[in-house]
Amino acid sequence: MNTIIRRITSNEDDNRRIISEAATILRNGGLVAFPTETVYGLGGDAFDSHAASAIYAAKGRPSDNPLIVHISEVSDLTKLSDHIPNSAYLLADKFWPGPLTIIVKKNERVPLTITGGLSTVAVRLPEHPVARAIIKESGTFIAAPSANLSGRPSPTSGNHVIEDLNSRIDMIVDGGSINIGLESTIIDLTEDIPVVLRPGFITIEMLAQVLGEVRLDPALMTGVASDIAPKAPGMKYRHYAPKAELTIINGDSIKVIAKMKELAKDHLSNGQKVGIMVTSDYISEFPGTYVINLGSSDNIQEIASNLFGALREFDDQDVDIIYSEGFNEEGIGHAIMNRLLKAAGHKTINL
Ligand code: TXA
Ligand code: MG
Repeated sequence: MNTIIRRITSNEDDNRRIISEAATILRNGGLVAFPTETVYGLGGDAFDSHAASAIYAAKGRPSDNPLIVHISEVSDLTKLSDHIPNSAYLLADKFWPGPLTIIVKKNERVPLTITGGLSTVAVRLPEHPVARAIIKESGTFIAAPSANLSGRPSPTSGNHVIEDLNSRIDMIVDGGSINIGLESTIIDLTEDIPVVLRPGFITIEMLAQVLGEVRLDPALMTGVASDIAPKAPGMKYRHYAPKAELTIINGDSIKVIAKMKELAKDHLSNGQKVGIMVTSDYISEFPGTYVINLGSSDNIQEIASNLFGALREFDDQDVDIIYSEGFNEEGIGHAIMNRLLKAAGHKTINL
């Protein structure tokens, strides 16, 4: 398949044409990857079962893993669910448009093909102007998982999407690099106490401020290499894992860096290519290794937005083994560690 690739620029007329082209393809049942403020999404008409099947096929994604439906107005919620709790409106008021996905009971209009057979539906109103404009102009709602091949890190640049999906979908709208860089926070509002199924930029603390009590899906508790099935089907799959084995080293920075140096030295003497992920203060400490600078240790947002790109870069460099600093799990650090631990298959060294 020939994939149309268009780049968003500062030329507003060109951008309008691109958005209109994307919306037309979506209306006709085609697939378009587009930027959102979290990661790129791979969109198709949410009410078209063929489009849904095409999304699963293009990603190589298991069909029991449900898709998020993207809307462009809060009032669109009523077209997807007949049981919208007040908590949904409280959250929408505070966090939409933005990086939050809510789960509510679906109505009969929502096809089971996009919910993986579940009676609930995940809904998000993104903030990115290109995403919003494409959804609005399509005149429908857009089912969109992250625009990566299943198992790879979510794409945070147009090039990541091209790498994974070129020639597999109808169009890629390249909006450059993404601000947040981690997928949306997911909260399930179908239980008595709302449950966070995936941590993200909107933190548990921020949600609790609006809702009062909020629970965390027990399967998310880090450290427990858990046997408990997560409530978001997608959270159970191997995800983000780079080809090389990744180990996270937690503890006091000085000790962590000393340990990484020691381990790196051993691997280098065995002729292995070593990948290192550290914050900017330590990038010059590892001569002979492939070092990725995750950003400044006091800018946790920068670290979040660099993480997925870094994991892809290690694959491109064919390193044999990777070590990363661990991060404090406060605020968005919780989401960073959730993704990093998955990428590492929970392999950690605690000092
Ligand atoms: O930031 C994001 O959320 C991005 C952008 C494109 O919006 N999308 C994204 O979609 O990350 P995806 O498909 O990669 O992740 C959606 C997650 C999966 O883990 C899926 O299992 C879960 O949401 N999910 C979707 N519908 C659900 C439902 N009804 N109940 C429980 N989990 C659900
Ligand atoms: Mg995904």
